[in-house]
Amino acid sequence: MPHRSLVKLLLATAFFVYAFCINHVRAQEMDPRIDWDDAHQWIAPGPNDFRGPCPGLNTLANHGFLPRDGKNLTVSVVADAALKGYRMQQEVVTLAAKLSFLTTNDPVYYTLDDIKLYGVIEHDASLSRHDFALGDNVHFNETIFSTLANSNPGVDYYNITSAGQVMHQRLADSELNNPSIINTEKELHFRSVESAFYLSIMGDPLTGIAPKNFVQIFFREERLPLAEGWKRPSTPINLTTMDLLTSQIAEASNWTSSGGCPWIRLGPDQPVSIVQGT
Ligand code: HEM
Ligand SMILES: *[C@@H]1O[C@H](CO)[C@@H](O)[C@H](O)[C@H]1NC(C)=O
Ligand SMILES: *[C@@H]1O[C@H](CO)[C@@H](O)[C@H](O)[C@H]1NC(C)=O
Ligand SMILES: *[C@@H]1O[C@H](CO)[C@@H](O)[C@H](O)[C@H]1NC(C)=O
Ligand SMILES: *[C@@H]1O[C@H](CO)[C@@H](O)[C@H](O)[C@H]1NC(C)=O
Ligand SMILES: *[C@@H]1O[C@H](CO)[C@@H](O)[C@H](O)[C@H]1NC(C)=O
Repeated sequence: MPHRSLVKLLLATAFFVYAFCINHVRAQEMDPRIDWDDAHQWIAPGPNDFRGPCPGLNTLANHGFLPRDGKNLTVSVVADAALKGYRMQQEVVTLAAKLSFLTTNDPVYYTLDDIKLYGVIEHDASLSRHDFALGDNVHFNETIFSTLANSNPGVDYYNITSAGQVMHQRLADSELNNPSIINTEKELHFRSVESAFYLSIMGDPLTGIAPKNFVQIFFREERLPLAEGWKRPSTPINLTTMDLLTSQIAEASNWTSSGGCPWIRLGPDQPVSIVQGT
């Protein structure tokens, strides 16, 4: 009997040690520093919270990685949020985060609403928003988004090929309907980066394969699909992974310019400012 008790005790001890270790490893994979259930749970924006044309930043605000009111953004606030929420290295977002200061006269902070200023980053032929000249260039529009939603039929993921096709179709639609379309290499670059963003954060930053339901929840609800099984990418998103995906997507989009030189708006009160084209 004492012998049997000892065996039981050993087995029980072994079980607890095993259970503890496994949980510990799981906890590390999940990153215990991120409190998804409380500080970083999804909360829809309230009437006084600012949101804008970027589903990536809106989602970070809805999960409390950015200030939930969408205000007081700086380069480091945005870079920290992207790292925590998406495992995206800071150099990937620095350029856009700096350029956004052109959208406001406030030299210290910008808001998620400021960045809608057409001609800084905001552009035509978006994936989920109208062209500035045609309608609401800030809020999600299901009709616009249907091109992406319905792409890559027959499988349950989006990839580099489908992302390129969607960009091609969205551009063709804008070329047909928007006489004041602006579509130079600058817009091609931002649009390709944005497509690489959704494939990377909702899928695999190396292969560019992303489950359709994750991507759709991200755009439609500006929510991280945690309940549906989403985890932050296991590979950190850095300039190498982004450049590879971005160039392949641009290639797959068969892009042609609509004419004109790249330009950038220098401030909210400034007229369109021509910058010497390449
Ligand atoms: C943190 C990672 C980011 C992700 C995952 C992300 C994702 C995206 C995506 C998918 C779009 C395309 C929306 C569409 O075409 O309908 C977009 C657009 C945009 N993003 Fe982001 N973004 C990120 C970071 C940033 C940063 C750092 C800024 C600037 C501070 C920014 C500003 C914008 C703007 C202004 C647009 C509107 C462009 C347009 O469609 O006209 N984004 N973003
Ligand atoms: C947030 O930004 C506003 C200006 O947009 C400023 O007045 C306010 O003091 C800032 N709040 C904090 C906590 O820095
Ligand atoms: C969404 O886009 C469609 C197609 O251009 C348009 O008819 C509709 O009014 C837009 N919806 C909203 C809410 O802006
Ligand atoms: C993307 O998926 C489609 C459908 O399965 C496939 O035909 C295409 O080759 C894929 N593209 C890439 C780059 O794997
Ligand atoms: C791009 O061009 C190639 C070769 O003409 C074609 O096979 C492909 O379907 C085109 N892709 C798009 C998105 O138009
Ligand atoms: C980016 O990530 C890839 C994949 O993990 C890695 O091979 C590469 O060395 C990284 N590049 C930089 C600049 O950190």
